[in-house]
Amino acid sequence: HFHAVIPAGGVGTRLWPLSRAAAPKFLHDLTGSGSTLLRATYDRLTPLASDRMMVVTGVAHREAVCRQLPEVPDSELVLESEPKDSAAAIGLAAAILYRRDPEIIMGSFAADHVISPDSVFQSAVHEAILTAATGKIVTIGITPTHASTGFGYIRTGAPLEVAGAPNAHAVVEFVEKPDQATAEKYLKSGDYSWNAGMFVAPVALLLQHLAANEPELHAGLTEIADAWDTAERDEVTARVWPTLPKIAIDYAVAEPAAAAGDVAVIPAAFSWDDVGDFAAIGRLNSANEVDDVTVLGDGARVFTEDASGVVVTDTKRVIALIGIDDVVIVDTPDALLVTTTAHAQRVKAAVDALKANG
Ligand code: GDD
Ligand code: MG
Repeated sequence: HFHAVIPAGGVGTRLWPLSRAAAPKFLHDLTGSGSTLLRATYDRLTPLASDRMMVVTGVAHREAVCRQLPEVPDSELVLESEPKDSAAAIGLAAAILYRRDPEIIMGSFAADHVISPDSVFQSAVHEAILTAATGKIVTIGITPTHASTGFGYIRTGAPLEVAGAPNAHAVVEFVEKPDQATAEKYLKSGDYSWNAGMFVAPVALLLQHLAANEPELHAGLTEIADAWDTAERDEVTARVWPTLPKIAIDYAVAEPAAAAGDVAVIPAAFSWDDVGDFAAIGRLNSANEVDDVTVLGDGARVFTEDASGVVVTDTKRVIALIGIDDVVIVDTPDALLVTTTAHAQRVKAAVDALKANG
């Protein structure tokens, strides 16, 4: 009864100008592996879900997603007319699956993470499915390396007795994106993991928490799901979708469900990176180094002398780096980014300011 869902909607602003509204992060190969992040996510889930996989994405990405995942049938491709954040995307998938079979356990997996090895990921998800079957919303916990404010924090409780899932633990508290001081406190305490952005849960339980915490969103999603397999689908979706509240699943479900004692965690034994900025591209592509410069891009021509850092290019321009360290260069036909690995996190704020200034 397991069904995988891949919400593919974030823009990945910190990877501008490579990742943008028209070509978000998940459509790119950021590891030099030949697979885009979306394709790799799909392949990683195939042994667990075979063809029971649903992708939720913006209508603008339909063509690119179909090109990268030609095997996804229309019935498993959910298209949004506009982004409504992860609670709507994941909640709609849950509501559609619930109509098919109220006993389904679904797993939602971000489309834009780098994970290895696949086999260790698969055994963690297998434990998550067994744990979810006992009536839990199951998260995957990552050992934090620094006091990031970009992640959800999971406070681990006592071990759970679940057959086949020896690593399952109760979750005492889930806090989405705490402020800096709180993140530092959590890191120091040693009691918290980062939330990997994956949720495995009985669809009925997920919808129950959504109904309790975001009744308006739940009602709208139910109305759309009721019309999903009927002639009214397009009319109902066009009318209801734009009215839905925009909220992340972490606030709408994970925080309140953890407070109610309904969340569990499986600690990840695999390596995980959310490719949050261009410094991550350097870490993830050590095989693609020219001297000390990590180079990503088809047919890139990069000349280096006493230089280190990251170059990402989708132009054919020759790029020369001389006597410069930890530089980040991202060259695209209509925008050029120059920063350093230490400041790579600041790209989002810069892009937001650029947008605000037209
Ligand atoms: N279809 C669709 N539509 N998908 C969406 C939308 C949307 O409007 N908004 C977000 N998503 C998808 C993203 O593509 C991603 O797969 C997932 O939902 C999570 O959204 P992000 O926007 O990437 O969230 P985040 O990175 O800020 O935070 C989440 O992930 C962290 C780990 O990377 C949270 O779950 C955190 O708690 C977690 O630590
Ligand atoms: Mg993310």
